[in-house]
Amino acid sequence: CGIVGYLGKHDTKAILLDGLKELEYRGYDSAGIAVLQAEEFSYFKAVGKLANLEAKTADFTTSGFAAGIGHTRWATHGKPTEINAHPHLGDASYVVHNGIIENYQELKNALISEGAHFLSQTDTEVIVHLFESLLNGGLKPFDAFRETVSRLKGAYAILLVTKQMPETIFFAKHGSPMIVGVNESDEKFFGSSDAALIGKCHRVIYLEDGQLGFVSRTGIHLEDAHAAAVVPHFASLPESKLSAQKEGFRFFMEKEIYEQSEVLSDTLIGRLAEDAILFDELNPSLLEGINEIKLCACGTSYHAALASSYLFERLGKIRTSVEIASELRYKEPLLCTDTLFVVISQSGETADTLETLKMAKAAGLKTLVVCNVDNSSMVREADAAILTRAGIEKGVASTKAFATQMAVLWMFSLYVAQTKDTIDAETLRKQIGLLREVPAVVRVHDDLHERIRRLSKRYLHGHGFFFIGRDIFFPLALEGALKLKEISYLHAEGYPSGEMKHGPIALADPELFTIALMPKNLLYDKTKSNVEELSARDATICAISDVPFEKADDFIPIAAHDHYMLEFFETMVVLQLLSMEIAIRLGNDVDMPRNLAKSVTVE
Ligand code: G6P
Repeated sequence: CGIVGYLGKHDTKAILLDGLKELEYRGYDSAGIAVLQAEEFSYFKAVGKLANLEAKTADFTTSGFAAGIGHTRWATHGKPTEINAHPHLGDASYVVHNGIIENYQELKNALISEGAHFLSQTDTEVIVHLFESLLNGGLKPFDAFRETVSRLKGAYAILLVTKQMPETIFFAKHGSPMIVGVNESDEKFFGSSDAALIGKCHRVIYLEDGQLGFVSRTGIHLEDAHAAAVVPHFASLPESKLSAQKEGFRFFMEKEIYEQSEVLSDTLIGRLAEDAILFDELNPSLLEGINEIKLCACGTSYHAALASSYLFERLGKIRTSVEIASELRYKEPLLCTDTLFVVISQSGETADTLETLKMAKAAGLKTLVVCNVDNSSMVREADAAILTRAGIEKGVASTKAFATQMAVLWMFSLYVAQTKDTIDAETLRKQIGLLREVPAVVRVHDDLHERIRRLSKRYLHGHGFFFIGRDIFFPLALEGALKLKEISYLHAEGYPSGEMKHGPIALADPELFTIALMPKNLLYDKTKSNVEELSARDATICAISDVPFEKADDFIPIAAHDHYMLEFFETMVVLQLLSMEIAIRLGNDVDMPRNLAKSVTVE
């Protein structure tokens, strides 16, 4: 979900809607705003994308000093209905919340027995009723807010506005991101990410967990979880609005696929010497005493982790394990201090990944984050960070973020080998030469795109897809299947080619589409045998390879490369284009697929 807030004298409605537009990628099941001006509340909510809320508020105008809050939702508790959309209201207060209140049922039962009247099924609504019940019990507004927050368990970023203390916005943060901004005219802004604030203010406070306070005409009051006053620490925001524009492409996803060549050059810049990998951002002592790497992530970033684990062992010569963040959290893992704990996250905000990072730190491990967003929670939390430099990624289906994660992790595997002196100079030089070729390899050529667009029409129906590959092409197959699922809503699975015969081949028939990743430079003959076994059972085969394969029903040629990592990057582009073209033919909103959100800041 995404939160915005504004306190000031300018057009509150426009500022809130503009901020929400920047955050819409965080959730778009429903959206809402509440504005308190001249002691009167106005509020609007709409199901679906932000455009619906904009239409609803078309006749609403704001002028003069006001306090406003807004929210764009990715449903957790309660269906995406108007009633469940934020802001939630009490008698004279409104709240927006991002996160999950774990003890909401217990609080709700107690409040109902006191006579509170709940409208929604959300966990959020307890916040506003609890606040008002404490207010009615005689507490002053900010004391009631502080007491409310202290009774909440779980993760939250909260903004609350009440008539009992107009011209004020209360805020609290624990586990979900929240930034407060101020500008020269003393206007105050809130956002779940800096995207909502860029262009509006330059000075911001990245709130820490446990902090709460309020903004008013006269300033900002900030305190910690023990009610001790905290002197705000201001950071600065870039001035230019980074908001990506589609620039003639049909979707952001398409633009981002085409942009990969450029952003990968940025990822590599300054990091490749002739015979060494340079990560100036890393302290040379990072790898001291390290005998193992543990990679941890969610979603597409998890696939980057899995793929790079092949490189860490093969090139880096270091024992490596990979974990899904939501699994690691509760499996009571044995974490050893000779392990470098590496989290990978496009956003740097994914709740599960962030929590594993904290867990590893608490266990005394050294930590590193590979991230696309500077100043994100994970970058601030980890001991060291490598930024992927992909620029803002708007499409919910991750493309260029994955590509840049792969490039960074590949470089880092070589950095490990170089630091531990387990790679010879010649191999290292060759690997660096290959890395330099990547930006050219991922450039999209018209004929390739056109071929994929045409053949995509064969793949719109049928009872399912298998994406198969071996070695590092297995995680790439998982990623290809995830891309297709996310935006086409078709069922797809990634599988190691060699495992098909151990069960899944039972599904083979002409309606089973197999996307076979067949790089010439990595286990080609073995993969080919596995694909032939499927073809013999009449499965429909679409092969992606730099060697023609006559048994394929469709063939997507990639350029002839002499190393599997270059085949990896080009195959990645083919898979991205294929899922996008299928989804476009099915008429789906490729950038904002149903039920998903770009950044999931709840467990
Ligand atoms: C969400 C997105 C995925 C993404 C995952 C992890 O589920 O829809 O595309 O891969 O979160 O996100 P992160 O920002 O941690 O890489």
